[in-house]
Amino acid sequence: MRGLAGKVAIVAGGARGIGAATARRLAEEGASVVIGDLLVDQAQETAAAIMADGGQAIAVALDGTNAESQAAIVKAARDAFGGLDIYISNLAGGTDGDIDALNCPVEVLDKSFAINTKSHFLATQAALPAMLERGGGAMLYTSSGAATGGAPWQVAYPMTKNAIHALARHVASRWGKQGIRANAVCPGLVLTEAVKIHLTDEYVEKAQKGIPHTRLGQPEDLAAALTFLASDDGAWVNGQVWHVNGGAQMRD
Ligand SMILES: NC(=O)c1ccc[n+]([C@@H]2O[C@H](COP(=O)([O-])OP(=O)(O)OC[C@H]3O[C@@H](n4cnc5c(N)ncnc54)[C@H](O)[C@@H]3O)[C@@H](O)[C@H]2O)c1
Repeated sequence: MRGLAGKVAIVAGGARGIGAATARRLAEEGASVVIGDLLVDQAQETAAAIMADGGQAIAVALDGTNAESQAAIVKAARDAFGGLDIYISNLAGGTDGDIDALNCPVEVLDKSFAINTKSHFLATQAALPAMLERGGGAMLYTSSGAATGGAPWQVAYPMTKNAIHALARHVASRWGKQGIRANAVCPGLVLTEAVKIHLTDEYVEKAQKGIPHTRLGQPEDLAAALTFLASDDGAWVNGQVWHVNGGAQMRD
């Protein structure tokens, strides 16, 4: 993809799963990558694997819900690689106890918003000044098909993910003239380790049969979309929410 060689990217929530695949793909395309995660050991393993393949990567401890931690990872990108061009805000969590609106404890709602919405806001506050200094950059947010699917079994997670769409559109419209692009990507069911441990074989088989594709998603499918949006090939995509899901939901 065009325009990634020499760029500097942060992948928040990049230790494993979709984030790790995106870090690998960005590095393959020539970007230097800063991987931030609570799972520092796994983030270091991912960075080491990228380096072993000839790429540039470092790992940094990140709590995305904390403004100082977000500022520190942007500083780490500047110190290690000279600036920041791309921030992939991919982390998520905190969904235990998230059931229907009458039974989801308010503490679960608050925790979900802290991890799945506030972290992306703080990432934006930390990253934008560094990108504006470089004349622009790409903010990318990982949302979910759950934002638009309508599900009877969970309330907080879809609410938190919808908020990211508003954030992406705000950033795109406010700073587009200054070279910033902001987009969100909604994965369908992707067989990452974090997801697989919750699914039975029967569920996976039924999910696969239920989508108009030959298979369910792999982390690399999302990495490809996110990397495209971060690249110059995605230069005219701004303020959009892309569903990458094998056709599971078909949306305008
Ligand atoms: N896998 C799927 O089927 C699927 C579907 C829809 C959306 N998504 C979204 O895609 C993204 C990645 O999902 P995944 O399946 O790779 O999950 P994952 O759990 O493997 O990756 C999320 C990463 O975020 C990290 N993280 C969580 N809280 C953090 C915090 N406060 N600070 C820093 N790091 C933190 C985790 O340690 C983990 O490494 C998430 O935003 C998820 O909501 C995934």
